[in-house]
Amino acid sequence: MTTSSIFEINPLDLTKEIIFDCDDKDLNDFFSNDAKEYQKSLLAKTYLYVNNNEIFAMFSVSNDSVNLTDEIRTRDYPKSKQNLKTYPTVKIGRLGVSRLHQNKKIGSNILAFLKIFFLVNNKTGCRYIIVNAYNNTRALRFYENNEMKYLTEKDKNKKTRIMYFDLLPYHNTIQKEEKFKRSIEEVKELIKKSLNE
Ligand SMILES: CC(C)(COP(=O)(O)OP(=O)(O)OC[C@H]1O[C@@H](n2cnc3c(N)ncnc32)[C@H](O)[C@@H]1OP(=O)(O)O)[C@@H](O)C(=O)NCCC(=O)NCCS
Repeated sequence: MTTSSIFEINPLDLTKEIIFDCDDKDLNDFFSNDAKEYQKSLLAKTYLYVNNNEIFAMFSVSNDSVNLTDEIRTRDYPKSKQNLKTYPTVKIGRLGVSRLHQNKKIGSNILAFLKIFFLVNNKTGCRYIIVNAYNNTRALRFYENNEMKYLTEKDKNKKTRIMYFDLLPYHNTIQKEEKFKRSIEEVKELIKKSLNE
């Protein structure tokens, strides 16, 4: 992860008007009009990725749960005593990068941030990150390149596809590797600076 110190991650301010264009009508509409109501109703928390008062990206996250397919459950929990019906997740409900700044790895940086954010800062159990990705080649490739996997083949022809990232193996990896230790420190700094935590 290469989070530059010039960026901040700020929670959506309910008192401020949002002017943001990620070239997707539904996402723009959500961020500009609906995100505040979602936040007030505790349904989703929205964050702004900003530099010098310019919004480079916005994303919303919520607690969620996922039903794993039998194949994934057998693989991830081979001898598990926990026979859970659903598994705790955080869902990236919306993600958009300003159309002026797409293709500069900002979206990838945000995913890298979120993977660590929900490991170092999470106060509840959260095993997976999930997203309902737009079912088009570029959006799917973006999530694939960020190591997210398809939950099922059943949504292959739907408008969106559920993709997931398992935080447990990642948690084990980042404990060991030096480059991840730096990323964790960067994320902690960013959280401290931006979110006062
Ligand atoms: C998809 C998106 C979040 C990726 O963020 P980003 O910072 O542009 O992406 P990165 O630089 O980290 O990675 C580049 C990859 O993102 C994807 N991408 C870039 N621009 C995109 C766009 N306008 N629409 C869809 N995918 C896009 C592509 O897979 C690209 O790889 P490619 O150049 O090989 O095609 C961002 O482009 C965006 O907001 N697009 C419009 C809204 C959208 O599709 N959101 C996803 C909702 S599921």
